[in-house]
Amino acid sequence: MSELNLVLLGPPGSGKGTQGERLQEDLRLPYYATGDILRAAVRDETALGRTAKEYMDRGDLVPDDVIVGAIGERIDSAEAADGFILDGFPRTVPQAEALAAKVSELSREMTAVLLIDADDDEVVRRLGGRRTCEENGHVFHVDFNPPKRDGVCDVDGSELRVRDDDKPEVIRHRLDQYHEKTEPLIDFYDRQGLLRRIDGTATPDEVAAEVRGVLTTLKLETDEAI
Ligand code: AP5
Repeated sequence: MSELNLVLLGPPGSGKGTQGERLQEDLRLPYYATGDILRAAVRDETALGRTAKEYMDRGDLVPDDVIVGAIGERIDSAEAADGFILDGFPRTVPQAEALAAKVSELSREMTAVLLIDADDDEVVRRLGGRRTCEENGHVFHVDFNPPKRDGVCDVDGSELRVRDDDKPEVIRHRLDQYHEKTEPLIDFYDRQGLLRRIDGTATPDEVAAEVRGVLTTLKLETDEAI
């Protein structure tokens, strides 16, 4: 495959970030996680961050126009010339339409949308125990993926914290937002033949193996089509 343009789709806490980190290492492609981009903007108190903060704290999605511009710039950058991995974008049908328009404007095509799925109870269990490094967003779980030293990131040594939106009542609201606004994208991409379903409830290693299998199959299909 000459170019790999991927989207990671799925409910909050299904493991998109966990798999995104691994994929980024495997594929050596730029990885754009809108949650990380927005949290960095909030930390740096940029205009984007000031707009996004109140939505994020409530567990609401930020308005489409706020996020579409930020992602469009990145896809159109030199570092994304061989492809990109998007995590957390698109999250609404208008965002998906904006992505399709951008990709087409660049005379490129989406390769696949990987749906990493998990049910609501699993999401609540995972987000309740998640610990995230403040500096670079590396992700751990107190039971399922514990750091070697309590409260310290294995990768960069920074402090691990509970995300503001991982409080129980906010988790429930994020799930409602997902079902209402993001789930329609499953059908949207299935109809275009881009959707690949991955069982996110297996262990992180098993999920990673399934993702690799899907990418290998895609490569074989593309090679056969040439
Ligand atoms: P964002 O940061 O994107 O949050 P999210 O989609 O809700 O996803 P999460 O980061 O919570 O979960 P994840 O699927 O990455 O799971 P993870 O790998 O961490 O967005 C935050 C907010 O920003 C949104 O609410 C919204 O306000 C705003 N926003 C972002 N994008 C936007 C957009 N496009 N439009 C509008 N607003 C936007 O794993 C979770 C936990 O489970 C971890 O502890 C992990 O260690 C553990 N785990 C992972 N995999 C496994 C496994 N296989 N088995 C057991 N445990 C596992």
